[in-house]
Amino acid sequence: MAHLAIEGVSKLFGTTFAVRDFSLEVGDGELVCLLGPSGSGKSTLLRMIGGFERPSGGTIRIDAKDVTNLPPERRPTGMVFQSHALWTHMDVFNNIAFGLKLRRLPKAEIRERVENALALVGLVDYGRRITTQLSGGQQQRVALARSLVLEPKILLDEPFASLDQHLRERLREEVRDIQQRLGITTLFVTHGQDEALALADRIVVMRDGGTEQIAPPSIIYRRPQTAFVAGFIGSMNFVQSHIRNGVCEHPLFPLAVPVDDGPVTLASRPEALAIHPSERANAATVHRTVDFGTHKIVDVDLADGTRLKAMVAPDERFQAGMKVEPSFASFFAFRDNALVHQSMPSKSDAEAVRLLPV
Ligand SMILES: Nc1ncnc2c1ncn2[C@@H]1O[C@H](COP(=O)(O)OP(=O)(O)O)[C@@H](O)[C@H]1O
Ligand SMILES: [Mg+2]
Repeated sequence: MAHLAIEGVSKLFGTTFAVRDFSLEVGDGELVCLLGPSGSGKSTLLRMIGGFERPSGGTIRIDAKDVTNLPPERRPTGMVFQSHALWTHMDVFNNIAFGLKLRRLPKAEIRERVENALALVGLVDYGRRITTQLSGGQQQRVALARSLVLEPKILLDEPFASLDQHLRERLREEVRDIQQRLGITTLFVTHGQDEALALADRIVVMRDGGTEQIAPPSIIYRRPQTAFVAGFIGSMNFVQSHIRNGVCEHPLFPLAVPVDDGPVTLASRPEALAIHPSERANAATVHRTVDFGTHKIVDVDLADGTRLKAMVAPDERFQAGMKVEPSFASFFAFRDNALVHQSMPSKSDAEAVRLLPV
């Protein structure tokens, strides 16, 4: 249905790059999430694809057609913004029909397409409602229908940011269903990792206008290419240390790390951090335990003040003040933000990695 190709796109505001030499291809019917902290360039990138901002360099193609310098109404894209900005002087029907009228479609076709879009978002009888009479979630669905009706390659900029957690989860499931049913090529911007992990075929992790990693969710989680990605997605424990002769000098983690001598950042997920009661002088101390029902999270303080989180079974008993010895079942090693070593992943992780395209 649609193929999006972004090649070497940059955007300069004054002397600073909001987006820097960005390249990405989004395949037919694929949903890609742009994930990154505030200010990392997600909106600017989306606005350039939608035609609301002109790139300083690079090319944007949709279905092989160069659209880099076309205005929004001449692109086959529909955009949903963070604040949905419905027109309050129009009813729901006319809000959704607006883009079709701009394209001068016949009246009967407009009616049919608006009715289909309303059905898709579950608002069949709402056409004549004034938008101010709708709840936040309903307004967001109208905004969604307004872009869906153009049968576009769709661009969503944090569309659920203003909604409460429960509604957000429901709407993102709806978006995923609709997107898959219609095979709509979609770029979805979020700064929430849960949203990205739940929705995306692939995730693009952005930082300072550039790309840190592009990969499917389970790869991003299991094989982060940078320390930034490792820390941004999921919970991660970091330990600063030094490598000498292929061994980490940290007293609690004397691990083999086959890299040149120099500083290193060890990283390990809470589920890969094991803790055992210990009487050793340099043991760590349990600070607190939180019971989540399905598992417990134990906060552990090292002698130098570093705090680690270990995930343990709900029936394990670790109390504040207990001495424990931590160890990594699996870990990553980073230097200057780049992954330099990954210990043998667990069997199931290795399997997941093997089964997924990189
Ligand atoms: N119109 C603008 N003029 C100047 N700077 C801008 C403009 N829009 C965005 N920026 C800057 O570009 C950077 C990226 O912003 P943005 O794309 O909005 O990030 P995100 O959506 O990831 O939060 C930020 O530093 C922001 O201040
Ligand atoms: Mg933004």
